[in-house]
Amino acid sequence: TEGGADDYFGAVIAADGKIEPRDEMPEAYRKSLIRQIAQHAHSEIIGMQPEGNWISRAPSLKRKAILLAKVQDEAGHGLYLYAAAETLGVDRADLYEMLLDGRQKYSSIFNYPTLTWADVGAIGWLVDGAAIVNQVPLCRCSYGPYARAMIRVCKEESFHQRQGYEILHVLANGSPEQKAMAQDAIDRWWYPSLAMFGPPDTDSTHSAQSMAWKIKRFSNDELRQKFVDMTVQQAEVLGLSLPDPDLRLGEDGHWAYTQPDYDELFTVIKGDGPCNRQRIEHRRAAWEDGAWVREAATAYAKKREGATV
Ligand code: 3HC
Repeated sequence: TEGGADDYFGAVIAADGKIEPRDEMPEAYRKSLIRQIAQHAHSEIIGMQPEGNWISRAPSLKRKAILLAKVQDEAGHGLYLYAAAETLGVDRADLYEMLLDGRQKYSSIFNYPTLTWADVGAIGWLVDGAAIVNQVPLCRCSYGPYARAMIRVCKEESFHQRQGYEILHVLANGSPEQKAMAQDAIDRWWYPSLAMFGPPDTDSTHSAQSMAWKIKRFSNDELRQKFVDMTVQQAEVLGLSLPDPDLRLGEDGHWAYTQPDYDELFTVIKGDGPCNRQRIEHRRAAWEDGAWVREAATAYAKKREGATV
């Protein structure tokens, strides 16, 4: 049977090996990887917008330089991921079109607005923190090019998370107004960050199959719990609180917490979040404005081809 232990693919998966681009693989595995990797790439690229919004308003030259580098890193992550998707036989321009016409998704989290400078801190700490929890296990994903791309991405994410934490630490130890601004950002980003991990396991359409194929190593709920356990302690060090009165340490060593609003998650995924339209319009404009660069690059490549023949 397709994907069974009796064929090459099944044997590699069973032995915890890596599937490489030229290996035989079930069509459904290839399709599911394209879906996930493209979605991931789109998230990195769309994710540049909420923070890019603050580059010109960063409170100091140092903060501006750091934020600029961080947003450039996100662009780099998007490019590695598009390259990883291309090893599965798709064209990046087609993936782009599917993002722009809504056939492919990107992470719900980037449809929320960045209202104050503290939001840049909260995104670094919570959103990039959640991204790391989700992505570290992807370094062991069964598809080689995706797993390898994740190693570098995770190293950079870890720097992003620390810079966000440091922004909040400075604000939390600043004036009462700065502390209140940091708290307000955490209050707004907490539940959307929990929702980033996806629907609960009972409603996750792809989890069982993706775990059997060793694309995913942990379920959405397992990763969400890991994130909560890690973050509660970090909030204590900051002296700021998480907006959940029901956080309680259980006897099993895990924190009980209030689930995010999954109806809101699905509303955002379907395109009706606070900033969905703005994000896609901005991306479409960037794609259209960049047409001359793509045309020039193609013309130049052709000219060079002609010159060497
Ligand atoms: N936002 C948008 N769509 C989501 C979502 C979210 N937070 N969570 C789930 N979905 C979608 C799924 O894509 C799927 O839709 P589809 O069938 O059209 O693809 C549907 O909801 C059902 O969810 P499943 O649990 O069945 O989907 P998955 O098994 O694919 O799990 C996932 C979802 C955990 C997001 C997984 O795809 C994954 O781990 N992806 C790779 C990581 C990633 O894309 N992260 C996005 C953030 S990147 C980032 O944060 C950048 C950083 O630099 C800030």
